[in-house]
Amino acid sequence: MIEVINGNVFHLQNNRISYVFYIMKNDQLGHLYFGNPLGRLSEMDIRYLIERNNKSGGTVKFSQEDGMFTLADQAQEYPVYGSSDFKEGAIDVFHENEPWYLDFKFVRYHLSKGKERQLAVPSAYAAADESETLTIQLSDEEHRLDLSLSFSIFTDFAVIAKNQQIVNRGQDPVRIQKMLSGVLELPSADYDFLQLSGAWLKERHIKRRKLEQGTVSAGSLKGASGHQHNPFIALVEKNADNNKGNVYAANLIYSGNFLGQVEVDEWDNTRLMIGINPAYFSWELNADESFSTPEALLFFSDQGLNGISNQTGRFAEKHIIDRKWSNEIRPIVFNNWEATYFDFDQKKLLALAKAGKDLGMECFVIDDGWFGKRDNAKSSLGDWYADPKKFPDGLGKFARQIHEMKLQLGIWFEPEMISPDSDLYRLHPEWVVKHPYSRASVGRGQFVLDFADPKVVDAIYGQLKKVILDTQLDYIKWDMNRNITEAYSNYLSQKKIDQTEFFHRYILGVYSLYAKILTDFPEILIEGCAGGGGRYDLGILFYSPQIWPSDDSDAVERLKIQSGTLLGYPLSSFSNHVSASPNHQTERITSLKMRQDVAMFGPLGYELNLAALSDHEKEEITARIAFYKNNRQLLTFGTFYQLIEVKEDSNEYAWAVFNEEKTEAVIAFFRILAKPNSSVQEFLKVPFICTDRTYLVNGQTVSGQVLKNIGIRKPYQFNGVNHDQAEVKGDFQSYTYYLKEKIPNSSGGSSNGKI
Ligand code: DGJ
Repeated sequence: MIEVINGNVFHLQNNRISYVFYIMKNDQLGHLYFGNPLGRLSEMDIRYLIERNNKSGGTVKFSQEDGMFTLADQAQEYPVYGSSDFKEGAIDVFHENEPWYLDFKFVRYHLSKGKERQLAVPSAYAAADESETLTIQLSDEEHRLDLSLSFSIFTDFAVIAKNQQIVNRGQDPVRIQKMLSGVLELPSADYDFLQLSGAWLKERHIKRRKLEQGTVSAGSLKGASGHQHNPFIALVEKNADNNKGNVYAANLIYSGNFLGQVEVDEWDNTRLMIGINPAYFSWELNADESFSTPEALLFFSDQGLNGISNQTGRFAEKHIIDRKWSNEIRPIVFNNWEATYFDFDQKKLLALAKAGKDLGMECFVIDDGWFGKRDNAKSSLGDWYADPKKFPDGLGKFARQIHEMKLQLGIWFEPEMISPDSDLYRLHPEWVVKHPYSRASVGRGQFVLDFADPKVVDAIYGQLKKVILDTQLDYIKWDMNRNITEAYSNYLSQKKIDQTEFFHRYILGVYSLYAKILTDFPEILIEGCAGGGGRYDLGILFYSPQIWPSDDSDAVERLKIQSGTLLGYPLSSFSNHVSASPNHQTERITSLKMRQDVAMFGPLGYELNLAALSDHEKEEITARIAFYKNNRQLLTFGTFYQLIEVKEDSNEYAWAVFNEEKTEAVIAFFRILAKPNSSVQEFLKVPFICTDRTYLVNGQTVSGQVLKNIGIRKPYQFNGVNHDQAEVKGDFQSYTYYLKEKIPNSSGGSSNGKI
């Protein structure tokens, strides 16, 4: 997969991509290409790519010696600002208050196979026959700094993983002011910048705007990747759509403050960079110390947005999420939050568990409110022992009762948080993230614990471990409901470590707690959550194979949230719950059918008062769960495909999921607002279908040719006169199709359950 040509050109290639860079005249690394595979590169090809006998106008030269060489117009692998290149660089290092304009020159390279999965820090991992890594050692001799850049390529994935390490070989400490993880230079600006942005209750909507000369960015300074912006960003060729056109995407395997930015220069060269947000960050590097960046991923597809979504999702499943879960079906969860909020006791929960079990659910999750004396959001975070008022017989006994019903048990924790009204706070007020100022901001009535301090993490783990052992816990929901303000750690202050290291050390502390839990209890399934989808990132996915995407469980809003999220994350990473109507976040009234149709794409769950269901609703849920169980592998791990391009104001969505052999698919069509008097003949093309086969579409025989070129018929909408025949009526329409290959001479095949 990795070829080194003449000792100075590096070609990483597999069946999907080529990535090429070389050692420039000044011994720094220049970038040449990322895109479709190039095959074997000849000497002539290389000369053709590299040769440039002139420089762009109006530039400063790199040195006296070569009057034609400037970094300003060179695509680079790891650019440094200020030595003839005026764009922002990937690394800034200061010595005392003096910026160093570093000159990292090639020293040697090293090849290795495979990538180990180490719980301490999230990164992509692979077996020896699944990936190769090229590490380039660079050095700035004058400043006594070594920099190694790693590039990994994986069998059958259109992705390059990058990370960097810097070592201080000098005598004096230096300060890293900025050190990003992923850089990609493209010789054109003919792209849209795509970001997944929003807020609490409306996370990761797709936003797309045209690139112009200048800089655009998405990032976070909240101590978490955040609700507002996601670390997944993409450059989408202007004419690219769902199925065609070049798309470059980047993501960071990190859950803390990040920055994803794109700068377009005066010649329409585009520089994409992603990494730890340099604002409120710096890191002191003493003699012989090293610092490593989180890993960045750069993806490419020439098959539009579906192509990129397929790559990012599959890659996360195979090389980021623990393999234990990457193909393992997930339990159908019942979560009591929207059913009871804080108002419950063991009796009420057992009744809900029994009702859930009768309907076919498989895991009962007790959400917030089971511990301390927590009857509202004002107390007890940090006191992880059961409230005796709610569990008079103890949590252990309750757990046994749940297990006796043949249900798994899940419990909600918010390990990083502390309430001012808690035993833990009374004992350790100094464990709170809080500046010595007299004023401190409060979020949801709570403070953040200082996870930069290892003894705080240990103390919280001690409490969690007791609960896990006592309940033989199967599932954890790990929440995180407030962001970090006035970031300050007493521990760092005592250790004389700069507070600018806090945010990064905090997130490493969070990872260390995940590592402790998973080392001792590798079987536990952890669901990530952060006030909904405030930390939906690859760092969290490394430990939690699924994440609660949003506190907004409204089916219509979820169409947007899930469509955006699916560009960067797999279907199997969702926790989708069917909730009540009117919805608690939007007060929108939708049918149970629509709510179940949306939620079945990915791991399915329920979060509504089961005691209030009508018999008809119970029947609908039982039938859907039966269908889901029959098709769970497909709906969780199948290939997801958008049949209609998603825009910010889309009125129609069509989601498809198909199996590897393309013998089966489930398609759901959603229309948010009814269209008056719409045509009776509207079709949705199914591009992924095999044209040499015939399919049963909800039992009707249709050829692959027809499905691909004409499509499935959209549901017959109420148009003012067709009262009896209309298949969908009013707003919030939902219609599902089950497709199965029809085997010639067979009876037609079973429908694998009814939707
Ligand atoms: C926010 C989560 O996103 C909800 O699902 C719920 O767990 C609440 N926190 C509980 O406080």
